[in-house]
Amino acid sequence: MNKQIKEFNDFKNIRIVDNFYQTSSFFPMPTTLIGTLCDNDMTSLGSYSLCFPYYIAGKDSYAMLLCCRNSSNTCKNILKTGKCTINFIPDKKKYFKEAVRLGYPGDTPEEKMKNCMFTLVDGKRTRDNESEKYPKIVKEAFQVFECTWMNELDNATSDTVQDEYLPPYHDFNGITSMYGAHFILKIDNILLKSKYHKSILEGVTKSNFPSVPVDYGYRDSKNFWYTRFIKPIDEPIPKNKEISLDTVKYASSRMDTDIKFTDEACLSLIKVPRVFLNIVLKSCIAWAKENDVKLITAEHIKIINDKRNKDKKVK
Ligand SMILES: Cc1cc2nc3c(=O)[nH]c(=O)nc-3n(C[C@H](O)[C@H](O)[C@H](O)COP(=O)(O)O)c2cc1C
Repeated sequence: MNKQIKEFNDFKNIRIVDNFYQTSSFFPMPTTLIGTLCDNDMTSLGSYSLCFPYYIAGKDSYAMLLCCRNSSNTCKNILKTGKCTINFIPDKKKYFKEAVRLGYPGDTPEEKMKNCMFTLVDGKRTRDNESEKYPKIVKEAFQVFECTWMNELDNATSDTVQDEYLPPYHDFNGITSMYGAHFILKIDNILLKSKYHKSILEGVTKSNFPSVPVDYGYRDSKNFWYTRFIKPIDEPIPKNKEISLDTVKYASSRMDTDIKFTDEACLSLIKVPRVFLNIVLKSCIAWAKENDVKLITAEHIKIINDKRNKDKKVK
């Protein structure tokens, strides 16, 4: 048997069935508690792992995507209020146990929240706007995204809570099937515990990551499976990927007829990956125009980088 065929035979084709991420494969997922507002303004928590970044750049806003059973409390509350909090819980056995309890279908918010071990506190939106009601955030979370459902996408504005959801269904936002819903959630705020806020602003090390469990979902019809956090490892980008000074000089000289870069300025840009070079050069030119600069120096590049870092801090 030839080597190629032998190696392919190591893979077996598996039937793709409902919930394929946990029934037909091994898919690593986050563990989040979604906080939503009930009719009596109480915050209810539901466990959700199918919650991933959706709009990450180049749009007017940033967004997450949540895949959700449409008969859940979470789905009903998002349809009614459009608001939620995504609370990422750290790796502790007792927290995951509680997440599994909060993930048991059929309990009313009152039943599940009665003896909930998590502490609910006001988020930034409540502090910024006391006259409006927002779901609370989980104090034990290492980070929380405060979100608003973008119901204008896929014409989902008229979706309301029903006993049974009949066709037609949306493609990707709102009620999407007899049993399912998808919510594209605009991120209003990302709130990080101060220790991890510092990690992001001052640079991550092996020891300043939050402890994040990895959920593998409900398998074997008995258990939710997850792995404990272990320290992350850093892997440097390949050294031979640096672009040459000539490449930066060539690209920068063709960017703008009025604004030029010194050789030192070009040298400070050789670590920028080739595919991003034009974007970075354009942002330098935009800064130069705003500041009436005709020749961009290495000092200017430093100012531009510092400004970008400061903007990140403000955001
Ligand atoms: C760790 C964990 C992750 C879960 N992830 C999801 C998910 O991504 N989507 C979903 O519809 N249900 C998920 N479930 C099941 C829901 O938590 C369950 O339907 C629960 O009843 C939802 O609570 P709610 O009705 O208060 O919203 C998960 C359960 C657990 C324990």
